Amino acid sequence: MRMGEGRQEHRITGGQDRPPVISEVVDYSRAGVLLENELRELAEGGITEETMSRDWQPAQEQKFSPESEALYDELEALITEEWQQFTEALVEDPVLRRYLQMKYKVEGRDLDVLMSAIQRQSEPYQDETEAFQELDSIRKRLGIEAGLRTFDALRCFKDQIRTLYFFDTIREKIEKGDRVLEAGAGTGILAIAAARTGAEEVEAIEINPVTAVFARRVIARCEERGIIESGKVKIRLGDAAEYKPKKGEPSFDALISENLYTGQFHELQVQLNDYLLQFVDTSQDKIIPRAMVNGVELMDLLSELPPPKRFEVAQKTAVVVKDLGIDPRAPKGISDPKAYDVLQFTERQAVGMRNRIVKTIAKDGVIDSVVIFSLIQMSNRKGNFLRRNESEFLGNDLAIMLQNPLAVKKGDRIEISISYRAGDRPGQAQIRVKRFLPGGIPAEEVGNIWEQDALPRAA
Ligand SMILES: C[S@@+](CC[C@H](N)C(=O)[O-])C[C@H]1O[C@@H](n2cnc3c(N)ncnc32)[C@H](O)[C@@H]1O
Repeated sequence: MRMGEGRQEHRITGGQDRPPVISEVVDYSRAGVLLENELRELAEGGITEETMSRDWQPAQEQKFSPESEALYDELEALITEEWQQFTEALVEDPVLRRYLQMKYKVEGRDLDVLMSAIQRQSEPYQDETEAFQELDSIRKRLGIEAGLRTFDALRCFKDQIRTLYFFDTIREKIEKGDRVLEAGAGTGILAIAAARTGAEEVEAIEINPVTAVFARRVIARCEERGIIESGKVKIRLGDAAEYKPKKGEPSFDALISENLYTGQFHELQVQLNDYLLQFVDTSQDKIIPRAMVNGVELMDLLSELPPPKRFEVAQKTAVVVKDLGIDPRAPKGISDPKAYDVLQFTERQAVGMRNRIVKTIAKDGVIDSVVIFSLIQMSNRKGNFLRRNESEFLGNDLAIMLQNPLAVKKGDRIEISISYRAGDRPGQAQIRVKRFLPGGIPAEEVGNIWEQDALPRAA
């Protein structure tokens, strides 16, 4: 347990139409030694300041097992084919129709509109047209946009590097006869990998009914083709935060959960893990992924952009660096990257975070953004972690724009304070940058983030 003191029991809420609620924020500024200890432990697994930099080993040099690569190829063909049939047939799907009728008490034209709204989930985000918005509002009203859109669950699978890390870790950790619990089945691929490795039973929970229908079809197809044995994987429709095992059931041997986002903004990984760990025998160390390190770097991001884009980005509260069309490894930070938080998914964690760290400026420049990034430790096997910007979605550099850029000189000492609560979007994080006056304390606050806090907070 990282921070025992002050921990309160909190009920997990989230998913469906309820926003996630945070009931506790721990001040890690008092936990410097703790953070150091955790980092030392992670360094044994290969996570060091070096791997937090932008010059990590390029993705194409990563080696995955031939078995994982073969499973990926096989599933890619199967899922692509199934996806096409699924999206065509979805609007008529009798199981889904019945489910919606019963659960949301909709009939007739409303049901037709809802079915086509749901079908839109299987398409990429595209239009902001009136028709789309109308359908979207029905879907939201009924609370069925819980979790990810089905199309995004498919994109997770297509994030090949990420998926292969999971496949290899599942091969390493899951043993014959294991009972596995999964939070967020998506397309069902991690459950399939677990069954393929020998799991006796995989209970995979998915909150989005459309995704659950799709995952069940994928599982059925895998069973038909002999990729997995029949009956080993069960896709359960529901909120993992409300999961209750049957009375007298033994503990699960392993927990798989991929609800990750840089710094854990607006994702429920921590809450879901906190809740589900009570049903898992944690002594076996089969929690996948195992931990996540959040790091921070001060940047002069705007100077990397051409003028029109520069002005546009300067108005934003937060941007994914990759989306700016610049190589996330190209910009030069004006301070070295540094860890500010470690999340151990093997233990209950504080929800939300608050921390202060001090950094020395490496070169003269203007700080216009604070970049947050995450490294995800899959298991304690050395080197088995997702590096910065390595996956399509996980742990990517996220720039939080400062309202008042701050000119700094090499050798200046800067304090960064970061706090956010579970469910916050990146732009809602509270970030302050202070420069110490010559001679140290007291610190002079010279830059801060957008104060308007335009979006309502989750709690
Ligand atoms: C990032 S995807 C990962 C899917 C799959 N495990 C994979 O790795 O490809 C997370 C999935 O979890 C689902 N999800 C989110 N919150 C959930 C909850 N509270 N209970 C069950 N499923 C949830 C989402 O709908 C989404 O399909």
